[in-house]
Amino acid sequence: MALLRQRDETRLGLVWERDPALIEADGSVNGDFVAFDFEESLSTGEGPYQHLLIEGDNYDALRALRMTHAGRIKCIEIDPPYNTGNNDFIYNDVFLNKDHRYRHSVWLEFIHRRLLIARDLLSDDGVIFVHIGEEEVHRLGCLLDQVFPGQKVGTFVWRTRSGANDSKEYFRSTDHEYVLCYANSGFTFAGSVKSTDAYSNPDGDERGAWGNDNLVKAHNFKQRKDAFYPVLNPESNVWYAPDPDNVWRFASEAKLKPGQKIRTKPMEQIIREKKILWPGDTRTVRYETMEVLLKAIDDGTAPRNLRRDVPDLEFWVGKTIGYGKPRYKRHLSELKRSEKPFSTWIRPGSDKEAAPEDVISLEVGGTTEGTSLIQQMTGNKDFPYPKPLSLIQGILKQATGPDDIILDFFGGSGTTGHAVMALNAEDDGNRRFIVVSSTEATAKEPHKNICRDICQKRLEKAATGYDYRTKDKMKHVDGLGGSFAYLRTRRLPPGKVVRKLAHGQVWTALQLMHLDILAPKSAVGLLWVAGEEDALLIYLPKTDAAALAALKKRKLRGAVVYSWQPELVAQHAGKAVSVRPIPQFLMERFGLKP
Ligand SMILES: C[S@@+](CC[C@H](N)C(=O)[O-])C[C@H]1O[C@@H](n2cnc3c(N)ncnc32)[C@H](O)[C@@H]1O
Repeated sequence: MALLRQRDETRLGLVWERDPALIEADGSVNGDFVAFDFEESLSTGEGPYQHLLIEGDNYDALRALRMTHAGRIKCIEIDPPYNTGNNDFIYNDVFLNKDHRYRHSVWLEFIHRRLLIARDLLSDDGVIFVHIGEEEVHRLGCLLDQVFPGQKVGTFVWRTRSGANDSKEYFRSTDHEYVLCYANSGFTFAGSVKSTDAYSNPDGDERGAWGNDNLVKAHNFKQRKDAFYPVLNPESNVWYAPDPDNVWRFASEAKLKPGQKIRTKPMEQIIREKKILWPGDTRTVRYETMEVLLKAIDDGTAPRNLRRDVPDLEFWVGKTIGYGKPRYKRHLSELKRSEKPFSTWIRPGSDKEAAPEDVISLEVGGTTEGTSLIQQMTGNKDFPYPKPLSLIQGILKQATGPDDIILDFFGGSGTTGHAVMALNAEDDGNRRFIVVSSTEATAKEPHKNICRDICQKRLEKAATGYDYRTKDKMKHVDGLGGSFAYLRTRRLPPGKVVRKLAHGQVWTALQLMHLDILAPKSAVGLLWVAGEEDALLIYLPKTDAAALAALKKRKLRGAVVYSWQPELVAQHAGKAVSVRPIPQFLMERFGLKP
């Protein structure tokens, strides 16, 4: 009994080994409110802005985004610190290096807390890709199974470099990384359109174009007894022997057990429907005795499918036997899908071997592609291991449509934002990115700001174009277009939200909730207004006589009006508008009790 109860209560999963002091020091568990400060001088292009670049800790950014973007993100693409133990993961201002006792649990806890919020942001057909290296791939897999139960799509493997032994212990060269993928039920990859070049209609078949396909499958006669049988061409009366190593693709009615069901048509029906391409090789042979047949097998002159080890060899005595191979006449109309699926294997562009024709395999640059691009765009190599643009662009091309929102909350140098802009330029799409990038400032380097100094610069140049110097000349790269707003996260202490919340922060949150976009700051006055005439969003920072008079003058049908004194505004605005309270509304959306 005790054993039974224990079994019921114990779940398969990860068990964290925790140091409470370490976790308490992590500000991300506080019950505070997070607001966004809009930084117009670091934003690019004209408002309303298409994309968002957010500077700050991603736990804060995610909590704020849950208020504005829950259920609306189609694709999350993240590349967290791999926790290699070599200065790539800072936690509470400390690098968690190889000798840190809680290295794996702290990393898992850090990722877990972020994934739990990220999950709420995904749309019903949303998908998440998480990049990872050898060190944590197995633990991360368990964690993702826990956060997204039953939603595993699978793992993609990409080749990062062409080979260099770097493992001192085992004489092994680690040349690949992983991308783990989980998705909600409505998600599928785009695949790519299959070529129909192999289909034509030379015989005027009324069923339309057809291709010459295999009639066999990769099972031997011992594995698939019901698909190993002689086939007769009823028009020529020539028999064809089955291949002992690759039996027929279709079962024979004659071999089925009573009541046995099969998924495909039986061979007899395929023959009746004239879907067999009988061999052009018209040579035949006839053995009148078993002895002659065995001799022909031994001296190699018999048709090659006749072997001493196959059953019922005596059947072939006295029959006219053909040498060629019957094939299958596959009509174009039989294709279940007109696309090829997306392959799990991502190959480097330098790979000489072509991918199989029936899948779409990404061909990407190695790790140096990202580093060279950053150097070209920002003039320095200070950002370690950015992802190759081709990799992220390829994944997003497979996973997103032209109107989707894409989130990267470990944005680093901004490769995901760049890839979104590049993809929009390629297919005239209107995808929007939300990239969160941290400053990476520490007590030792308090002024460091990766988001402002690398990510912002890179994304601005990607949007507007840039020049760079090669060995002997200057080169120009055209801008990809698009605009982004630069936001900073700001933590407001619990209990002080009402007093500390600035009008600009309220306005930013309201716009993101209602309109997705951010208007430029110039939209503000007595009434802060954004959106189209029939879907207006209005914020009243002050509810005084002048503001109420201004409100009266506007056509307000369908408008949503936010005010600190909603009752008063409601009396003046009439029934055609919806008046809502601040900050109660924001705090409720954020998950805090006002
Ligand atoms: C492997 S890099 C991502 C590189 C990125 N894919 C690129 O191509 O530039 C991981 C990034 O996560 C960032 N990061 C780590 N902890 C973070 C946090 N709590 N909030 C936001 N970003 C964080 C680091 O600053 C680092 O830039």
